[in-house]
Amino acid sequence: MILDTNNLITKKTILITGASGFLGFYLSLELATEFNLVGLYCRAPIEKLNFIQWQSSNLLETGEIRPLLNSIGKIDMIINLAAYASIDFCEKFPALSRRLNTLAAQEMANYCEEKEILFLQISSDLVFSGADAAYTEDDFCHPLNRYAQQKCEIENYLSDKKQSFVSRLPLLYGFGLNHSNFLPILLSKIKNNETVEAFVDEFRTPLSGMSAAAGLSEQIRALLAGKSSVLAAKILHFAGKESISRYQLAKKICEEFALNPKNVIPTKLKNHNLAKLRPADVSLDASLAQQLLNFNPPTIAQELKILKSQQL
Ligand SMILES: NC(=O)c1ccc[n+]([C@@H]2O[C@H](COP(=O)([O-])OP(=O)(O)OC[C@H]3O[C@@H](n4cnc5c(N)ncnc54)[C@H](OP(=O)(O)O)[C@@H]3O)[C@@H](O)[C@H]2O)c1
Repeated sequence: MILDTNNLITKKTILITGASGFLGFYLSLELATEFNLVGLYCRAPIEKLNFIQWQSSNLLETGEIRPLLNSIGKIDMIINLAAYASIDFCEKFPALSRRLNTLAAQEMANYCEEKEILFLQISSDLVFSGADAAYTEDDFCHPLNRYAQQKCEIENYLSDKKQSFVSRLPLLYGFGLNHSNFLPILLSKIKNNETVEAFVDEFRTPLSGMSAAAGLSEQIRALLAGKSSVLAAKILHFAGKESISRYQLAKKICEEFALNPKNVIPTKLKNHNLAKLRPADVSLDASLAQQLLNFNPPTIAQELKILKSQQL
């Protein structure tokens, strides 16, 4: 075997928090060959991703973040995926979730600012009110729930930090390893002939985990290469091209996976007392990312076909 010492010397190091999560799995696969990856996990690493240098950490212990980062050695970029990403959880535990979603992120961003390390914060389409879609990066944020408030708070905090950048993502779907997602849950219920309620009045621009990771990795490469147009963007949207309701998405999934669409029952947010917490339409306009980066995701039907073939 010939050892590529050149590559060992020049490879940059990226630290991914939440590398053990749903998106962390896809993003790590995307970045694996080009970068040295240090992955933080809280409960358990993804054993199969043995190319990652795994580090255990509880980012709620914000005082331990700095010593942890100091112990890792040279880092070129931090991608902050770690989060409590459930609306319900954040409503139930506002202080705890803010500690991870906002305060831990602030701590890392301050460290990056001091050490001149790039910091990429993952945010969400939910920062918008849902009344004026499709949203561009310049649109006004108006969060309806605590999860979105925490994301907005960190976005605002980072706005004047030179080293910090934000990527807003839509509803993601796919098959994770340690962390699941609504797709396998929906498939399993419908295969068991259970019914699933899906909202006809909640619109997003969903994207597969694979395509989100592909878009983010383009942004990461461009930031590390110092591409001025991407550095200037500060916030970028990555999203699918179709604005679609949860109900339409569930029907499409049934179609592609050859399952009975009659098991998907249409319902409305207001029937579940959720209209105040969940914005009606947070479809994202991702044309800036398409223009600046090589970001051109497939249609939902194409993405589902790929996911189905991977599942077999
Ligand atoms: N999934 C979506 O549809 C979606 C949409 C828009 C934006 N986002 C954003 O994208 C990012 C990634 O989301 P995801 O779906 O991959 O989330 P996820 O699957 O729920 O993963 C969350 C990650 O955070 C880690 N984590 C949780 N508590 C922690 C703690 N106290 N200390 C350190 N790490 C901790 C988890 O580690 P362990 O598993 O090891 O505990 C896991 O790796 C998040 O910022 C989320 O807000 C997600």
